[in-house]
Amino acid sequence: MSEEQNKPLNVLILAAGLGTRMRSNLAKVLHKLDGRPLINHVCRTAMALAPEKIYVVVGHQAEDVKTAVLNELDESIVEFVIQEKQLGTGDAVNAARNHLQAQDSTLLILSGDVPMIRAETLAKLVQQHRDHRGKGAAATMLTVSLNDPTGYGRIVRDDHGIFKQIVEQKDCNEDQLAVKEINAGLYCFEAIKLFNALSRVGNDNAQGEFYLTDVPAVLSSEGEPVSIYKHGSRREIEGINNRAQLASLEKHLRRRTIKKLMLDYGVTFIDPKNTYVSADAKIGRDTVIHPNVTIEGTSTIGDGCEIRPGSRVADSDLGNGVTVLDNCLITNASVGNRCNIGPSAHLRPNARMEDGSRVGNFVEMKNSTLGRGSKANHLTYLGDATVGENSNIGAGTITCNYDGVNKHKTEIGNNVRIGSDTMLIAPIKVGDGVVTGAGTVANKDIPDNKLAVGSPARFIKTLVKEEGERGREGEKE
Ligand code: UD1
Ligand code: MG
Repeated sequence: MSEEQNKPLNVLILAAGLGTRMRSNLAKVLHKLDGRPLINHVCRTAMALAPEKIYVVVGHQAEDVKTAVLNELDESIVEFVIQEKQLGTGDAVNAARNHLQAQDSTLLILSGDVPMIRAETLAKLVQQHRDHRGKGAAATMLTVSLNDPTGYGRIVRDDHGIFKQIVEQKDCNEDQLAVKEINAGLYCFEAIKLFNALSRVGNDNAQGEFYLTDVPAVLSSEGEPVSIYKHGSRREIEGINNRAQLASLEKHLRRRTIKKLMLDYGVTFIDPKNTYVSADAKIGRDTVIHPNVTIEGTSTIGDGCEIRPGSRVADSDLGNGVTVLDNCLITNASVGNRCNIGPSAHLRPNARMEDGSRVGNFVEMKNSTLGRGSKANHLTYLGDATVGENSNIGAGTITCNYDGVNKHKTEIGNNVRIGSDTMLIAPIKVGDGVVTGAGTVANKDIPDNKLAVGSPARFIKTLVKEEGERGREGEKE
């Protein structure tokens, strides 16, 4: 292996800019694509290259950008570099000078606003950089030819096709504007040479900024080898500078995800154009997704499920054979096999439905478990509650979990029949086999097999349960 191949590889991600063209109060790299900030896409890709370190240049809304980065990357691999004033991409790289100028290393520079680039492409860029003429290049740029190069820096070559310079759109003359080959904002540099050349870059240009894009021309004028890696995919290098570009990439990503789910995973989409699925979601074979359904985050949906129109599933896991009827919202919840949900049900964080359970219209669950085969079919709130197996929660039942200061638990046993409009004032335990009458207000524990009625609840009977029976009247109290 040559010396070049053994050099450490570091990544530097530029993410300090304001993103003026977004016309936003939020830093550009924090705008979301496929539900994740742009910077997170770039960080994940950088990580796939197994570099020594990933340096992230932050400035505008630095703390929020750091938080986003640390959601994606382990603290041990990242080093943040502060660019106090946003004086251009050259200045942004210069902010990392003290970390990198002395180390004989290869530096891959990525833009926080170029989120679609694939690790495989970057690996080829690094390889070409290291292989260049058997000795390695000082700089290698990734370029693409575009029918409409508007907004990008142009790659200007001499009559022999040899690289001369990158000229930013705003600094282009008419001939240069006509150039189709553009700078993708992704480069490989020899760190020591980069920082030497950067010292000679000025800001005498249309934007009064220090351009990183001037560095390759400086290097080449000093006789250093500069190489170009020309790439075929237009999509991969698309930079996001405004919201129209963001929407266009979002649409593209969504199409790609849904196509893959249809062709490789056997998922049916009734109307692919009007369905939204995150690239991190997993959906099983023969599941049918209706129009206007949104599947967000790292949700997993099993085989043979049906999700009806207007429902949203976020960061939740659904088992096999689950039916979600129209207009349900399911967030951070877990649903077992063969469950039925909705229409218009709301599963909030830490709602857990065990196999074969059902939740019907206008039922809300939060931090609660509904046991195997149990049902809450109409107009119910289950908060901080556990319900055992084969129990039925009648229409209008409320677990009154909040006393105005603290939240309390409700525990409901197996084979329970809660009558319509029952209020269970937590903390409370409802034993196995209990039946409550309609309109019961229970404010203390109900022992096993009691029939409770009234407000406050009185236990008027003990119900004797026989094999195969749901519970029947026994001795009077
Ligand atoms: C840049 C390139 C252009 C290329 C295009 C590809 C320059 C001068 N131009 O233009 O040749 O075609 O990317 O997408 O580099 N940033 C900082 N600090 C700053 C300025 C920017 O960290 O002071 C960061 C931004 O947050 C962004 C990245 O650098 O992530 C690129 O900046 P941006 O302003 O988007 O450059 P472009 O105009 O797109
Ligand atoms: Mg840009």
